[in-house]
Amino acid sequence: RERVLSGMQPSADSLHLGNYIGALTNWTRTQEKYDAYFFIPDMHGITVAHDPAVLRERTRRTAAQYIAGGIDVERSTLFVQSHVPEHAQLSWIMTCLTGMGEASRMTQFKDKTQKSGSDAAGVGLFAYPMLMAADILLYQPHGVPVGDDQKQHVELARNLAQRFNHRFGETFRVPEPFIPENGARIYDLQNPTAKMSKSAESPNGLVNLLDTDRQIAKKIRSAVTDDGTEIRFDREHKPGVSNLLSIYSAISGRSIEQLVAEFEGRMYGHLKVELADAVVAALGPVRDRALELLDDPAELDALLACGAAKARQTAHPVVTAAYEKIGFLPPA
Ligand code: TYM
Repeated sequence: RERVLSGMQPSADSLHLGNYIGALTNWTRTQEKYDAYFFIPDMHGITVAHDPAVLRERTRRTAAQYIAGGIDVERSTLFVQSHVPEHAQLSWIMTCLTGMGEASRMTQFKDKTQKSGSDAAGVGLFAYPMLMAADILLYQPHGVPVGDDQKQHVELARNLAQRFNHRFGETFRVPEPFIPENGARIYDLQNPTAKMSKSAESPNGLVNLLDTDRQIAKKIRSAVTDDGTEIRFDREHKPGVSNLLSIYSAISGRSIEQLVAEFEGRMYGHLKVELADAVVAALGPVRDRALELLDDPAELDALLACGAAKARQTAHPVVTAAYEKIGFLPPA
């Protein structure tokens, strides 16, 4: 079977609706068809200031949300990045293959350092896309299911794979980004021109997977909408309503056109009330299951240990091949 691989940073206690629609639901679909690897990039979690105990806890919480969201640990390989040392090993090679100019063009780094300036950032934050390239290439995946904000990073991984293969001989598979058509980007509910993210300005701008039903419903019902009254999809003139329609479409499986037809002649308020119900119905069971899993951390840790052992079986030979090709003397 062809392979896919993806991960989400353990940078908050809860994943958010953008992660759920842009990534997790897409992952659970891919695992039916592909040999799937899903991991928690905790090594990416130290590229910014962090608290060790919090990182540990969030790594577990993220794993619980993957499983609750539908990742099947029997079928797919679920693991923590730092449990598989091959990520760090290949990351150095990727770093050495990357040009300063190339790395400087990564828009996520530019966004994340916009306020503080790049001098205040750690080198790890700058080198983050090279670690991500290693994450991907280690498993020779055919596809990388991500939201559209990660496309540039997957593109870098493709370039690095081609560069390595060209210089040192065929070693890595060049992966494709798998980006969902609907919900590739979910926007902040209070500020619908900014993508929904953990660093939202207002806590009401993002729906968390672990929010209570009441919190979810309240946030959706108080989403910012646009001038006028007509419910139609128009990113430019109606970013608020368009975002609600994308969320609804992704959650319900109904197309945007279908939804627009259903809501013809009705008001924004109707859309919000119905959408709130739909999101609560989708996320509620995921939250409950995640919290249940978190009641037994030892069981969760055991699952992650199994996953890491499986992941290493794939990653180890790939690193060994890359080490040899690049000219490292094999240990006798
Ligand atoms: P991260 O943790 O920022 O996001 C995890 C996934 O969620 C998607 N996503 C969104 N999709 C739609 N709308 C949004 N508002 C939204 N916000 C986030 C992201 O596109 C992503 O798919 N660098 C990665 C983590 C990573 C990784 C990897 C991913 C590390 N190594 C290897 C794939 C393969 C990141 O920070 O994603």
